[in-house]
Parts: sequence; structure tokens; C-alpha cells
Amino acid sequence: MSTQKVAAWSHAEEFVTPGAHVEEALRHGEELGARPVGNGVGAALQLLAAATGAKAVMEIGTGAGASGLWLLGGMPDDGILTTIDLETEHQRAARDAFAAAGFAHQRTRVIAGRALEVLPRMTDGAYDLVVVDADRQEYPDYVEQGARLLRKGGTLVLTWSDKEADPANRDPETRTLREVGRAIRERDDFVTALLPVGEGLLVAVKR
Ligand SMILES: C[S@@+](CC[C@H](N)C(=O)[O-])C[C@H]1O[C@@H](n2cnc3c(N)ncnc32)[C@H](O)[C@@H]1O
Repeated sequence: MSTQKVAAWSHAEEFVTPGAHVEEALRHGEELGARPVGNGVGAALQLLAAATGAKAVMEIGTGAGASGLWLLGGMPDDGILTTIDLETEHQRAARDAFAAAGFAHQRTRVIAGRALEVLPRMTDGAYDLVVVDADRQEYPDYVEQGARLLRKGGTLVLTWSDKEADPANRDPETRTLREVGRAIRERDDFVTALLPVGEGLLVAVKR
């Protein structure tokens, strides 16, 4: 890859800078070991929420709330973010982050539990945007749940990994991502692209 390309990628990552509340959530997320999304991914999530006018967003993997703050930043004022995490400490941090950023508590539903136990209780076709950033081994099941939860025209977003691009990487997590990518790409009911932001964002729109 040319040095110019690397510089352009790095420039794109820093093009939209996070606000103070996202910065704080990033710090807290790092402290808790919750791997918050970086700038490029956060800005892209905000953009996707705004572009789709997403009023009902489902997030799997709340962390300390960094990605949630980016999403809320792009959603309309009456949009509601539903977000699931199994770690109560992460959830507490996210709730504090949403409140500190001035989002009314009715704008967020922070649900405690394992995603695959919580998701089946959620309504079919009720979501405009589903964002997945949790256990990579469970991605195939999150995709199935996401496909069910999305309305027609809704958007599924999966955070990705640089490792997936290199066939030499054959650890279980990378292999699962590779299989998920292949499976979504082949589905007729989704239009898919892998966006090169951060470690990648797999975006699929439900036809
Ligand atoms: C990469 S972090 C999410 C970071 C967050 N999206 C952000 O940008 O701040 C992954 C999160 O998923 C949660 N998680 C992992 N496995 C889960 C599961 N099976 N169900 C629900 N949450 C899970 C972890 O507790 C962790 O907070």
C-alpha cells in the first residue's frame, strides 16, 4: 500500500473528531476493557443513523456507550436507542454517559443480558438500524436476529476486524467473520458492502 494511501486513511479516521462526551466514554470504555469503536467507525455510525433517519436503533454490545453516543448524535430527536450488554458495569457507564451528554432517559433502553437471550423477545421488523459489536463467535446468530428485527430497507452494521482480510489468519473468531461475510454477500435479501473505516464495517441493507 502506498504511503499516500496510508496517510489518506489516517486522515479519514481523524476527519470527524469526537465530542467531549464521546471522548469521556472512550476513556471509560478503555479502562473497562470494553474496546470502544474508534473515530472512523463512530463517525460512520453517526452518518448511517442520520442518512437512514433511524428512529429505532438496536445495538448489540453497549460497552461504555461510545458507539451509542455516536448513534444518538445522528438519530432524529425522537429516535430511541435500544442497546444490550451482559456486563452491568459497562451498562452503568453507558447510562451515565448518555445522561451526561444530555439525552433524555426515554431516548435509550439499556437492556442487561446475553444478546441471544434478549433478542428473540424483540419485535420483528421494528428496527431501522441494527448495529452489532459484541461476541464475534455469535455473529452468525446476531445476523439472523438482525435480519428478523429489521424492517424492509433497514440497515445491518457489523464491526469487523483487519485480520479477516488475510487468509493466513485462521483463528476461530476470524474464520467466523469470514463465513459471516461470505454468507451475507451471497444473500439475495441484502445489498452488502464492506466499508474500509477503522477495522472495517460490514453494512447490509435489507431489500
Ligand atoms: C467491543 S465492546 C462494545 C463497545 C461499544 N460498542 C463501544 O463502542 O463503546 C463489546 C461489548 O459486548 C458485550 N458482550 C459480549 N458478549 C455479549 C453477549 N453475548 N451479549 C451481550 N453483550 C455482550 C461486552 O460486555 C462488551 O461491553
